[in-house]
Amino acid sequence: MNSINSVISFIKEQYKTDNFIPLHIPHFGGNEKKYLIDTIDSTFVSSVGAYVDQFEVMMQDITHTKRAVAVVNGTAAIQVALRLLGVKAGDEVLTQALTFVATANAIAYQNATPVFIDVDLDTMGLSAKALAVFLEEFGDLRYDGCYNKKTGKKISACLPMHTFGFPVHLEELIKICDNWKIPVLEDAAESLGSEYKGKSTGSFGKVGAFSFNGNKIVTCGGGGAIVTNDVTMGEKGKYLTTTAKIPHPYEYVHDEMGYNFRMPNLNAALACAQLEQLTGFLENKRKLAKEYESFFASNGINFRTETPDTKANYWLMCVELENKSERDLFLKSTNKNGVMTRPIWQLMYRLPMYANCQRDKQVNAEFLEERIVNIPSSVR
Ligand SMILES: Cc1ncc(COP(=O)(O)O)c(C=O)c1O
Repeated sequence: MNSINSVISFIKEQYKTDNFIPLHIPHFGGNEKKYLIDTIDSTFVSSVGAYVDQFEVMMQDITHTKRAVAVVNGTAAIQVALRLLGVKAGDEVLTQALTFVATANAIAYQNATPVFIDVDLDTMGLSAKALAVFLEEFGDLRYDGCYNKKTGKKISACLPMHTFGFPVHLEELIKICDNWKIPVLEDAAESLGSEYKGKSTGSFGKVGAFSFNGNKIVTCGGGGAIVTNDVTMGEKGKYLTTTAKIPHPYEYVHDEMGYNFRMPNLNAALACAQLEQLTGFLENKRKLAKEYESFFASNGINFRTETPDTKANYWLMCVELENKSERDLFLKSTNKNGVMTRPIWQLMYRLPMYANCQRDKQVNAEFLEERIVNIPSSVR
């Protein structure tokens, strides 16, 4: 690829450096230090505190949902959200194979099994069309939900993931799931700030899950959030993630097996300071995406952009190369020259623990697996 050197130079120009350029690093440009010192001074550094409450309110405002629950990380958020939807041991959850391993792991933590549905080429997320085809063949609609004709197991949730912040075709997907009585949980770990028809991702399904891991658009070191418009479900989420303790001034009474999935106040302080800057981060990343878009267009490389009716947060930006050998050359040359790039994940059924899970043909997922590469996307 003749243009590879110009790609490397262009990215270095964007970040105005000749040093190593990582894929995505945090940007601490606001009240982070102030809030962290506040927290230390207050001594409330652990699992309760004012910043935890503030973080939950901020997440409700950002996602326009009625209840947000702060948790320890995005994986825990998905796991508990599945439990809130009633996913039980032995059930199945429809999801995509083209995702980060946490999506599938969270299903397995509930002793349920993932079933892999293909993705759309445009969004790289769970395909409503493929879902409809799968359910036509395997769905068995009963009074209490949908069962899989092949396995006899209950399909108790659908878990689409908004890959790199590009929203899936939510309306179509939710319509199909409603018809088949399958509740939707959005894995919005990567899509804080992304919108579908003007509304926040994470707010369309019965529940949404976000991550605030160190590589995300907004980070608090490690953290997650569950969001929902069902206040009862949200309160149950809070209760389950805080050891299922019945409120009492001094007695320890726990009436269910809950989790210690609380986000420490120290992390929540960082999260609040970061969330205050979300709008600026989004604008900054959109500017970079525009620069990339016109540069790659003039170099004949497909830079992935948001689909109609959506606004992507451009968390991790990516290009689609012609084929696997072009991809490998791109990865090798950029990384050798100090520009970090990374292929998209291996499909979940290539991993030993998910190799035997039921799946459809995965034509699009396999196409993208060989071609998509993430490029540096940090806020500049
Ligand atoms: C798609 C997806 N789901 C879930 C997670 C899990 O989030 P966490 O790392 O906060 O547990 C991540 C990110 O790490 C992710 O990218």
